[in-house]
Amino acid sequence: MTQDEQKKRVAREAIKYVVDRAYVGVGSGSTANYFIDELANIRNRIRGAVASSLRTEERLKSHAIPIAELASVDELPVYIDGADETTERGALIKGGGGALTREKIVAAVARKFVCIVDVSKVVGVLGNFPLPVEVIPMARSHVAQELVKLGGRPRLRPDCTTDNGNVILDVEGMRIVDPTDLETRINNIVGVVTNGLFARRAADVILVGTDQGVRTIDTHRL
Ligand code: 5RP
Repeated sequence: MTQDEQKKRVAREAIKYVVDRAYVGVGSGSTANYFIDELANIRNRIRGAVASSLRTEERLKSHAIPIAELASVDELPVYIDGADETTERGALIKGGGGALTREKIVAAVARKFVCIVDVSKVVGVLGNFPLPVEVIPMARSHVAQELVKLGGRPRLRPDCTTDNGNVILDVEGMRIVDPTDLETRINNIVGVVTNGLFARRAADVILVGTDQGVRTIDTHRL
């Protein structure tokens, strides 16, 4: 089975977490795109979707799924999104697609965060995937110097402006044994908008697509 087929499997499984007559938060990336395609089949059951990026908004619209602004939504029972890496405890690296800030905001508001990944994304220790950090453009060299002090090797992502008008530094060489602590430290650097560690608000459920089927991890049961 290919990685894409595993992604489609978890996208299909994630539909079970969508709450009828409510809004659903929708992430960004190829796995989230497969989820949007599945969501289209049940669009009459939901009030609408909150998008975590402009690209996701476009895909939702292409399926005639109603879009809601996060600020005007009273309740968001669930947020469904992919990840670049996840531990079994639900700490994540996200932002490979550059949408980390809006993704983190929607995840913060949602009652339940369901992360959908193929099995290649599950790791023991985060950091093999370069950690994305969204930065206010004028602060990029200051932030890069501070990230070097934390042990990383930051690189400016070429030709990338985020939906919020900022740049991204991808940080290599981090072996992240304490993701909550590192998330806080990086967010405290002046000029950082947010970083791609989702540990303070980790995933509640991880759906892992494997050749054998979908493995469900309830991170609160560990
Ligand atoms: C986008 C993300 C994505 O969830 C992450 O990059 C995974 O993408 P894919 O589902 O294409 O593997 O964080 O900012």
